[in-house]
Amino acid sequence: SKLKMEDVVSLCKRRGIVFPSSEIYNGYAGFFDYGPLGTELKRNVKDAFWTEFVRAREDVVGIDSSIIHNPSTWKSSGHLDGFSDPMVDCRETKLRYRADQLYTSPAILLDNDRGGNDKDDGDGGGGGGILLGYVTVMEGNDVDMIKSAETQAKKLLKESSGRDDVKDARSGRDARFKPFEFVDLTQVTEDIMRRVPSPGSGKPTLTMPRDFNLMFSTNVGAMQDATSLAYLRPETAQGIFINYKNVLGSSRLKLPFGIAQIGKAFRNEITPRNFIFRSREFEQMEIEYFIPPGDEEVWGPYHRDWIRDSRSFLEGVGLRSELLGYDVHSGDGLAHYARACTDITFKFPFGTQELMGIAARGDFDLRSHTEGSGKVLDYFDEDTKEKFTPHVIEPSLGVDRLVLALICSAYAEDEINGEKRNYLSFHPRIAPVKVAVLPLVKNKEPLVDAARALFGKLQRRWNVMYDQTGAIGRRYRRADEIGVPYCITVDFDTIEKDGAVTVRDRDTTEQVRIPLDEVVPYLSKMIDG
Ligand code: GAP
Repeated sequence: SKLKMEDVVSLCKRRGIVFPSSEIYNGYAGFFDYGPLGTELKRNVKDAFWTEFVRAREDVVGIDSSIIHNPSTWKSSGHLDGFSDPMVDCRETKLRYRADQLYTSPAILLDNDRGGNDKDDGDGGGGGGILLGYVTVMEGNDVDMIKSAETQAKKLLKESSGRDDVKDARSGRDARFKPFEFVDLTQVTEDIMRRVPSPGSGKPTLTMPRDFNLMFSTNVGAMQDATSLAYLRPETAQGIFINYKNVLGSSRLKLPFGIAQIGKAFRNEITPRNFIFRSREFEQMEIEYFIPPGDEEVWGPYHRDWIRDSRSFLEGVGLRSELLGYDVHSGDGLAHYARACTDITFKFPFGTQELMGIAARGDFDLRSHTEGSGKVLDYFDEDTKEKFTPHVIEPSLGVDRLVLALICSAYAEDEINGEKRNYLSFHPRIAPVKVAVLPLVKNKEPLVDAARALFGKLQRRWNVMYDQTGAIGRRYRRADEIGVPYCITVDFDTIEKDGAVTVRDRDTTEQVRIPLDEVVPYLSKMIDG
């Protein structure tokens, strides 16, 4: 059956994976707290990334920069001027929406300057005018539905103004009634549908889209004025660029080489949604991989390698291949500084969405920081005696988004002896609990001692649990539900006959008998590979 987000959210809460943040105060939109299991899961995900891309490679090193940088960083990086989403406010409900999350007719702004002169009259819209309303359409609506909404909007326009020449509400450019613009609508929820005027209602309830900077600001030091204004980083990447010279100067790295960082990032998302998919505080795992400057033939192969390695990492931690895809950006979809960008997408219950991005950013960042700081961020090639600014390939992956993908990918249902079972088929490498030790009974001292001794031994290596309550079948199901890959039962034979235990595999439910002193090597082969 089809996985629903509410099942994922409810499992996460029930089993201590993710809680809404500050729940005793009714929560706080866009923030989440990880519970005991979620914390382990997240740690395993980060460890896997670090092992694969930093420790197992000679050409990548790690850093851990501060979260708050000198604010000049954000001027140079472009975040102060450009890191924004178009936002609209609803005048009635005072709710805010990301304009690109509404399926909008771009041409419902009336132009006041009938003569069509292009002077900006100061309302920020480029051409001035009033907004009549947005036509919102949910994803999944068919073309006929969209066409009829379009017709309604045109009619509305004609009725209210007697004319049909209009300006594009977003760009302010002259536009006849343009065909509808397709924007990603998978984020549009019923909630928005309920509150936004229905197609053609004509109520001018939404304000003009305006840019809303996504950076959280704060003040550093005792003064609370413009001189003390600072920002929480919206990405970990800039901490890498501003440390480029420090890392290069303190190591013996030669081009191509990479610098990785894992850490928190903060974005004041206008509409955080879909659980931990888009939140206001999240974690990123990013690499800036510096390469020789050049055009497509030079950076192309590096970009392709990183796309391949990223995908192989994602499959390696257990994402089902059939849920992964690519979204190759081109033309308007590319950020102005990007040479190329390929997203690896994941099929979430709410739609196929970006999981990670692999961008070729040219020398944009190092050049911008060179200009902004006056410190030359270049590279001296010992062999050719040449100095140049390296280009960069940037794989960037959200920890929380990957955690969500892993849970969705692992969510499984089957039937065992006619009984329905829900379980998480986590790859043993990232499973939050690797082993459950289950004494068959809890009131037989030598049996319990043997189980506790084994548990103690395993604890020193992995996150394991001890469960002695309830029938063994029920204990299996509890372990299955949180994705424990192996259950070990200590029974009477263990202490009386063979000195061995039963190891049960979560996915196949098959059981094997393993001598006590072979348990660690056996598990380590299965878990650590
Ligand atoms: N340095 C490049 C950069 O930050 P991005 O596409 O804005 O690019 C990279 O973010 C990744 O970070 C995304 O693919 C996603 O996995 C994660 N991410 C971005 N915004 C997020 C949010 N609000 N909540 C959770 N994860 C987010």
